[in-house]
Amino acid sequence: MIDSGYYSAADFTGLEEGAAAPVEGGKLAVGIVLPTKDEPRWIQDETRFKEALDAAGYDVEILFSQGSSAKEKENVEALITKGVKVLIICPQDGTAAAAAAEAAGEAGVKVISYDRLIRDTAAVDYYVTFDSLAVGAQQAQYLVDNATGTGNPLYLYAGAASDNNAFIFFQGAWEVLQPKIADGTFVIKNSSEAVALQDKLELTRDEQAKIIGQITTNWDFNTAKNLAEANLTVATAADKGKVFILAPNDGTARAIADAFLADPDVTEYFVSGQDAEKASVQYIIDGKQSMTVFKDVRTLVNDAIAAAVALLEGTEPAAKGSYNNGVKDVPAIQSPVVTVDKANVKAELIDSGYYSAADFTGLE
Ligand code: BGC
Repeated sequence: MIDSGYYSAADFTGLEEGAAAPVEGGKLAVGIVLPTKDEPRWIQDETRFKEALDAAGYDVEILFSQGSSAKEKENVEALITKGVKVLIICPQDGTAAAAAAEAAGEAGVKVISYDRLIRDTAAVDYYVTFDSLAVGAQQAQYLVDNATGTGNPLYLYAGAASDNNAFIFFQGAWEVLQPKIADGTFVIKNSSEAVALQDKLELTRDEQAKIIGQITTNWDFNTAKNLAEANLTVATAADKGKVFILAPNDGTARAIADAFLADPDVTEYFVSGQDAEKASVQYIIDGKQSMTVFKDVRTLVNDAIAAAVALLEGTEPAAKGSYNNGVKDVPAIQSPVVTVDKANVKAELIDSGYYSAADFTGLE
């Protein structure tokens, strides 16, 4: 009556806690909430969740928040009503999602923060993520490895300030770039806030927020494109030529690359990315995006499902360290990431079986 979703567990007291069987008639008492269908990254997660859950014979509901924290909370409430015991949620806005996590916690539902950390609440039981500091560091290292001499123009872009990851990515990148700004290899061209802090290696969250506020793409392609165009409009020809661009992810990298490609004063550019989205893999093959950071979503999905099953069985999921969310050290597990460019794109993404060669043109 409860696990079938006919009634909600929240309507009763004294129902067996902790000992819930993970599978009953193929139904895993888990609900999944993802941020938006508008970015290929999250469609990829949905696909990989479905593959993994189908293979394990589980039937699980996946809902999308479509960029709205209100919709996200409705989704969480709907899943609580259906009787889920564990929620796997990637927050649209890390702080706003605290309310949804607390609603789940109050209903006795365990909360797994997925990829992005839910902030400022104790109602997060576990965090599965990638090594986001390494993501930023690898993006920056790629730019450093391709720069020679001094005075190289550097354009900085960041993710959404509502996403805790945007800070971690930026921090990882800044720690690699800052010494190369200090020694004159790079000259920042599009952020007065970054210039004001360019002598400082370790930035506080508030300092990071100042810079991110000026260079944010909000994880949105149009915002990214408009910002890049605005930056190029005020930049002089001398600020262009061969340029280096820190772009936070693949969607924004393609938008920013398109803007730089269209500028006649830009003769060559290096631009970072992350997610190994198919469209960016094609951009890399075509020489329009320099690199991406490959985050194998299958690993994240498997870690999340393993954690959910552990929580359903009333045991602690295996953690390797923790992340502080402002209120609590959330036990976490994190997966490694891989730099991919034209040289290893085939080996990492095609030969590995992650994508099929038929999805791309021009692969040698
Ligand atoms: C994820 C990235 C993604 C970005 C925009 C981040 O939190 O870690 O993989 O590209 O959000 O959706």
